[in-house]
Order: sequence, then structure tokens, then C-alpha cells
Amino acid sequence: MNPEKKNAGHRAAEYVEDGMVVGLGTGSTAKYAIEKIGDRIEEEELDIVGIPTSIETERRAKKAGIELVELDQADKIDLTIDGADEVDLQKNLIKGGGGALLREKMIAFNSKKYIVIVDPSKMVDKLGLDFDLPIEVLSHWYKGTADCLRRLDCEPKLRKINGETYQTDNGNYIFDCDFSEGIKGPDVLSKKLNSIPGVLENGLFLDFADLVIMGKKKGFEEKS
Ligand code: A5P
Repeated sequence: MNPEKKNAGHRAAEYVEDGMVVGLGTGSTAKYAIEKIGDRIEEEELDIVGIPTSIETERRAKKAGIELVELDQADKIDLTIDGADEVDLQKNLIKGGGGALLREKMIAFNSKKYIVIVDPSKMVDKLGLDFDLPIEVLSHWYKGTADCLRRLDCEPKLRKINGETYQTDNGNYIFDCDFSEGIKGPDVLSKKLNSIPGVLENGLFLDFADLVIMGKKKGFEEKS
């Protein structure tokens, strides 16, 4: 149990209202929000529909008793609650540590309100100094894509789990990209990354977050 993540997740769940379509994030912080939303559905008889950002979240949400639909079945997303790997002073994010960045970004893009939930270790002055930027790439041309990424001043490391190349829920690969001096100009970098044909999406989430909830050992802090 991580009290900081739990306090952030539980606070975010308070923003869920009856009748909402809610994007459900992936990871160990989002887990607490999902469980709390499940509790509220049961206790307050809320009529909520969730859209999961990953297979892992789909499983968790079903267990919590949340009715689910796919993104294309929903005509709106009122609110999304998701974790992050880094949050800077402008509320820009790095995401994708859990490998779900592509669906996470599609759902963030379509959300009227986007709440980010983190523990204090995620707050940084500069993105990419301590955490490698995840980039989802098509497997067919991943070596060539890595060469293109290197030209953008980073070292791409193919993600592996137990010695096996990691595959996302979508069957793609992830490069965790080391920008040794951190990410300068995230906006320009994001556009350059996504202009490489083999890149499906990058883990920079810029100008999405409406509210960041940082959980503390006791309570939380909110930054809007
Ligand atoms: C999943 O792909 C990620 O974007 C997660 O949201 C991020 O890694 C945060 O995860 P934790 O809440 O487990 O730290």
C-alpha cells in the first residue's frame, strides 16, 4: 500500500459525478482511483461508464464493478483520471512507463477534463532528466526507427521484460529514450518524433492536464 498514491487516487475519484463517461488510466496510482470509483458506484448507486486505457485497466475496472465501453462507442469523455511518470512545472507530462501511452493519449485527447494523479517523486523541474521518454513504434521497422530517433539527440533503448522484447497491448514495441540533458523544447520534440514514420506515439503529454493531484502521506495538494 502506498499512501501517497492512494490519497491522490481517492481524491480524484471524488470528481466523478453521476452520469459521467470516465477515462480510466493505467498504473499503480490509477488503480486506487478505479477501486474508489467502484466503491462509489456501489454505495451511491452512481450511473458511470468507464473507458479503459489498457487491458490491465479493463480487468481492474471490471473487478471494481465499472461498466465499460470502447473509445469509439462513446460520444464524449467527461473526465479522465490517469497517472504519470513525470510532471513539470507547466503540468506537462511524461507517460508510458506502463506501456499504455497510445491509448492513454487518445483518451486524454478526447477528454473534457483531465486529472493527473501522482506521488511527490513524479514532480520535476525538467522532463526527461531522470526518466527515459517512452515511444511506441511499429515492430516492422524498429531498427530504422531507432536510427531516426538517435538523430534527435537521444539514445533509444528497446524495452525488454525478462529478456524478451516487450509488446504493447497493440502489439507494438517501445523505445525508452534517454535524453541525457533532459528534454529541451518538448513541443517541438513531440512534433519531430511523431513525424518519423515508424513512430506511433510518444510519451510527452503537453497541455492536457487540467488538474494535478499530488498525494501526500496525509492528504494531498492540487495544482490547476
Ligand atoms: C502507463 O503507461 C503510464 O503512463 C502510467 O500512467 C505511469 O507510468 C504512472 O504509473 P504509476 O502510477 O504506476 O507510477
